[in-house]
Amino acid sequence: TALFRRPPELVPYQTGFDGGDPARPFARYALTQKLGQARFVPGLYTTVAGYNGIFPGPTIRVPQGTRTEVRVRNALPSTALLHPGTFKTVTHLHGSASLPQYDGYANDSTAPGKFKNYHYPNWQNARTLWYHDHHHLVTAQGVYSGLAAMYPLSDRFERAQLPQGEFDVPLIISDALFNANGSLGYNDNDHDGLWGDIIMVNGVPWPLMKVKPRIYRFRVLVASITRSYRPALSNGEPVHIVATDGGMVPKVQAVSSWRQGTAERYEILIDFRRYRAGQTVDLRNLSNKNNMDFPNTNKIMRFQVVADSGSSAGSISSVPVTLDDGGTPGSARGSIATMSLTPEMAVAKRVLRVKRQGGEWTINEETWEDVERSGFTRCFAVPRRNSVEQWTIINESGGWFHPVHIHLVDAKIIARNTNGGKPFAWETGPKDVFYAGENESITLLMQFDTGPDSPGGRYMMHCHNLVHEDHDMMVQFSVGDLRN
Ligand code: C2O
Ligand code: CU
Repeated sequence: TALFRRPPELVPYQTGFDGGDPARPFARYALTQKLGQARFVPGLYTTVAGYNGIFPGPTIRVPQGTRTEVRVRNALPSTALLHPGTFKTVTHLHGSASLPQYDGYANDSTAPGKFKNYHYPNWQNARTLWYHDHHHLVTAQGVYSGLAAMYPLSDRFERAQLPQGEFDVPLIISDALFNANGSLGYNDNDHDGLWGDIIMVNGVPWPLMKVKPRIYRFRVLVASITRSYRPALSNGEPVHIVATDGGMVPKVQAVSSWRQGTAERYEILIDFRRYRAGQTVDLRNLSNKNNMDFPNTNKIMRFQVVADSGSSAGSISSVPVTLDDGGTPGSARGSIATMSLTPEMAVAKRVLRVKRQGGEWTINEETWEDVERSGFTRCFAVPRRNSVEQWTIINESGGWFHPVHIHLVDAKIIARNTNGGKPFAWETGPKDVFYAGENESITLLMQFDTGPDSPGGRYMMHCHNLVHEDHDMMVQFSVGDLRN
């Protein structure tokens, strides 16, 4: 077994204060998208296309209130790794209330040899974000080749209550197929999805992680193209859900397993304090419907407890029961605020039906092709800035599941047609990806808070099964009017 590793952390090449004002810190980062050689299969090298040439890319950790500029240079070859077209890219910071021009709009291409500076406001509450490719028609190939990485945003509330440093661990889960020569295999199964037989965590197949007998915080991100997971510990012990996509949950939830689709983030605590040195426990993957299972896709990774030595800086001494993220009801800037939205606050109610039509995946019978044909003006909704709306996603695609992602917003799930009408225990915090399982419908409330400096503009909504997104399950809404 290969040893667990954390992705390296990216250091800014410049930090300072806008206009010399100590209240306006900034940090500048540079990333280069390029080919690299990774070792996934013993004895073989695999060519990947990653940020700085690694799979997954480097982690960018940012404190709330520090604006960032990330210069993304496309130094990829003109022919892509997995498709015959040009290796064009566009970067999306998933979970950020970015201005529309920095949100990774699918048609905002950066060609090989070019770069783009992305500006991120980072005014939101602490959360696990991730950045990944979002290019129209080839997002699946881009992410699968390696263009994905984590971007944890911290704030003082989160730092005071949850493990930090050594005990704050990214777990980026993905799956892949490899050809006999070690190269990445790609098969989208008639636009249904891609399921690999190898499960990786931070780019290492089924790794072994040595842990101290302490409480760890794992930021679990599913960066698979299609596969969804149902992680559970092999000894039946619960894990404690402390955060969802958009930040901390008000009440910590103990669950024995949870369901997690592509792009969803769950932060969990695992309490290793009662284990003896040498003991192991596995993170397994119980089956979800409509995935393609292989002999070892029921495993994710293994933990082995070692003697407690060295520093305990960043650890916490008990599993919290409630969490306070400082959000104020009436503003969407925090999970408490999002989780206090009520249906009475909604000024509009919309229904979004997802299904397959004529070989393409659609949302309310539209695809991104319709948006392109309209000259990018077509929007299915034009919510006002700061207004609250209630949306219901209805999965009418028979046996398929769709992890539906809405850009910009944090939402509260208020109803599901399954699970007795209620959200699942693990999704009782702010969310931006909604797992619409087979024949499920989900009702959400969200506030269209664009942040202090944004006039609004156009944002995408799509299925995060990236094969579905590329074929062509994506539409857009506009906050405010269309001039932005
Ligand atoms: Cu994670 Cu529109 O994407
Ligand atoms: Cu889908």
